[in-house]
Amino acid sequence: MSPKTFPAGFLWGTATSSHQIEGNNSNNDWWDWEQQPGNIKNGDRSGAACDAWNRYASDFDLLREMNQNAYRFSIEWSRVEPEEGKFDRAALDRYLDMVRQLRQRGIEPFVTLHHFTNPRWLAGRGYWVHDETPPAFERYVKAVVDHFGDEGPRFWMTFNEPMVLITQGYVLGVWLPKRRDFGQAGRVFLNLLEAHKRAYKVIKARHPQAQVGLANNMSPFQAYPGPGPGTGVEGGQREADRGSWLNRFAAGLVSSTFNWPFLEALRTGQARIVAFGVNRHDPELKGTQDWVGLNYYTRGVIRFNPLHPVLSLVPQPPAPGVETTSMGNEVYPPGIYQCLMGLWEKFRPLPIYVTENGVSIPDDRRREAYILSHLAQVQRAIDAGVDIRGYFYWTSTDNFEWAEGFQQRFGLIEVDFATQARTVRPSGRLYARIAEENALP
Ligand code: FCB
Repeated sequence: MSPKTFPAGFLWGTATSSHQIEGNNSNNDWWDWEQQPGNIKNGDRSGAACDAWNRYASDFDLLREMNQNAYRFSIEWSRVEPEEGKFDRAALDRYLDMVRQLRQRGIEPFVTLHHFTNPRWLAGRGYWVHDETPPAFERYVKAVVDHFGDEGPRFWMTFNEPMVLITQGYVLGVWLPKRRDFGQAGRVFLNLLEAHKRAYKVIKARHPQAQVGLANNMSPFQAYPGPGPGTGVEGGQREADRGSWLNRFAAGLVSSTFNWPFLEALRTGQARIVAFGVNRHDPELKGTQDWVGLNYYTRGVIRFNPLHPVLSLVPQPPAPGVETTSMGNEVYPPGIYQCLMGLWEKFRPLPIYVTENGVSIPDDRRREAYILSHLAQVQRAIDAGVDIRGYFYWTSTDNFEWAEGFQQRFGLIEVDFATQARTVRPSGRLYARIAEENALP
């Protein structure tokens, strides 16, 4: 292996989610939320999105042309079960067709069962706060698994970013259902774990060989002021010591609240988040993960706020002079290395896949630089002995970026939303070259 080559069989893909690309997902909670003014930037609505529900085959052709050998997408629960207990065969057929079409192109499907959106009929029940939601989720997963039969994918993902769903919806209250309630956050945490466990069992009962994981969003949380721009400090620890002990304490608390608890619960059976007052043991949770999925975007610098302790959870704005993205995040490539090392230390020998990493930025050359600098850090972790088997750039086509609407453009493929025309960006061609060579240039 030359210094710039990735291990043989490395998976190169892109990641998407149903609501962000399919269009007309009019039976879910986000759809309703988008119709209320003030929730989405510029009053955007997902609407037809990328019309991927109808265009997926030609989009998969493009991915094939870009040498991708893996693709992560999600199944929309509200399409499969538009009314409680009533399953839509045609929708299930279409998802199965997606799996087939990917395989025909030599692309390994990674299927996510829940990516933020919920069927509208769960609204009356308070969504994930309610203990009836995990069995409902299990029934939906069973319908998918049964319908796919022997053609089911090898790689399954139960949830996308459970801690982000909890934080945005129940801690910061910036996404629906807009709550700021640690008690509810704790209940949702336990119910998502319960649903994960049930889904894991359903999948494994049908396909013992299936590999089940989830996408866990992580950031290294460092004490304010954190390593400065251009300091070259990559471990973060020593420089972070510059912060006061209160900032270090707060950074540790944020990290133990958001980065680790979901995965830790699956390793040990102990579901524990001190800040939410949750501590429960369930031996059946233990071992319900076959691989670890990392979503990485940026780091978080944490400063204790004595007047508003809860606001201490929110990372500081990037320091002046550091490179930022259109989302306002700092570009911090060493962070992906730190996360990969941390995951390996805790969860080895489970293999790791980077299930999302990407950037929204108007200057495509900066997207190229972002991809190269982050992949160099992934390679550094591989060289250090971490078993990393694949990388999914977020995302293939520009799409509906939740509360940010359509203004944020993460795609390797530019979309003209008026005509649905697709144009591969130079960064997309660069990524295609990397995938083809299985190496960095
Ligand atoms: C992740 C989400 C994904 C997308 C990217 C930019 O947190 O999983 O749906 O919004 O951020």
